[in-house]
Amino acid sequence: MTSLTITRPDDWHLHLRDGDMLKAVLPETARHFGRAIIMPNLVPPVVTARDAAEYRDRIMAAKPDNSKFQPLMTLYLTEETDVRDLRAAAEIGLIHAVKLYPAGATTNSASGVKDFTKVKRVLENMAQIGLPLCVHGEVTDPDVDIFDREAVFIDTILDPLRRDIPGLRVVMEHITTKQGADYAREGGDDLAATITTHHLVINRNHILAGGIKPHYYCLPVAKREEHRLALRAAATSGDPSFFLGTDSAPHTDANKLLPCGCAGCFTATNTMSILAEVFEQDDALDKLEGFASLNGPKFYRMEPNADTITLTKGNPVTYPDHIATDQGPVTVFDPQMPLHWRVT
Ligand code: DOR
Ligand code: ZN
Repeated sequence: MTSLTITRPDDWHLHLRDGDMLKAVLPETARHFGRAIIMPNLVPPVVTARDAAEYRDRIMAAKPDNSKFQPLMTLYLTEETDVRDLRAAAEIGLIHAVKLYPAGATTNSASGVKDFTKVKRVLENMAQIGLPLCVHGEVTDPDVDIFDREAVFIDTILDPLRRDIPGLRVVMEHITTKQGADYAREGGDDLAATITTHHLVINRNHILAGGIKPHYYCLPVAKREEHRLALRAAATSGDPSFFLGTDSAPHTDANKLLPCGCAGCFTATNTMSILAEVFEQDDALDKLEGFASLNGPKFYRMEPNADTITLTKGNPVTYPDHIATDQGPVTVFDPQMPLHWRVT
């Protein structure tokens, strides 16, 4: 096969940031994707309907001319989240999900949840109206090894929470483990998982073997090879429980290459080429459309995009090493393999 036309994909987990960075990175996503779930971990975070409306307006203003890209806004769940504000934002279609960060789990998560009893009423209301909760699924207990934090979160927090609030619709964001894939697969219609592009490509050796590689450091951190293979199997299986959420997370090189560097891989630019390569390697090109374009809208109870993109196979396509922003360069994720599929 040398040409593949699929429904235009969406990105169900994206960091666009704000200001100069927003202007620089938004065209990279808008080029190929129809819609994206926009992460609310700005400083300060997007916590009210008003914050979300204002952020959406800034995104719309930064959009390239003629782009039909639609941002799907989210609220950042805090222990003070106002139920009425949240319900009103959902009713008018302003927000499409709420994001749960355990406090301290990752970039700008300090305002996240420490005591889950304090958000129970909000979550019960979300279950009533079917509003999805996007979960950063890692415990923050310093005694838990960083490579175990996802699996421990599933057992000690996510599973009890889902039993406690039946009907709560949950997206396990950026799963990185076999345990995550197994739990999502068996969770029924109210549970799904996003998988990033980079977690299909790298394991922890890419970060740590032969010198430390800050550009491969993200959270949740990439795990052993057996977990990467479990994610590949899940993504390419066609199971509607799994769909694309790139977690494309731009940080300037200056902020990545520090003694305490920021977590995040920037994959917006080359994601579709990488995914086509990965799915072809696994003999699953016929499952790419489900993963990137159909399973996400189905879970979010939206129509798939009405238009298509075409991927064409040929000589390896090159992408820039970095994109320029007014704050400095942002390195584009290097998949360390030739990419033969370009979006035409
Ligand atoms: O690698 C990550 N980067 N993981 C996250 O959870 C947050 C994100 C960011 O905002 O930079
Ligand atoms: Zn993220």
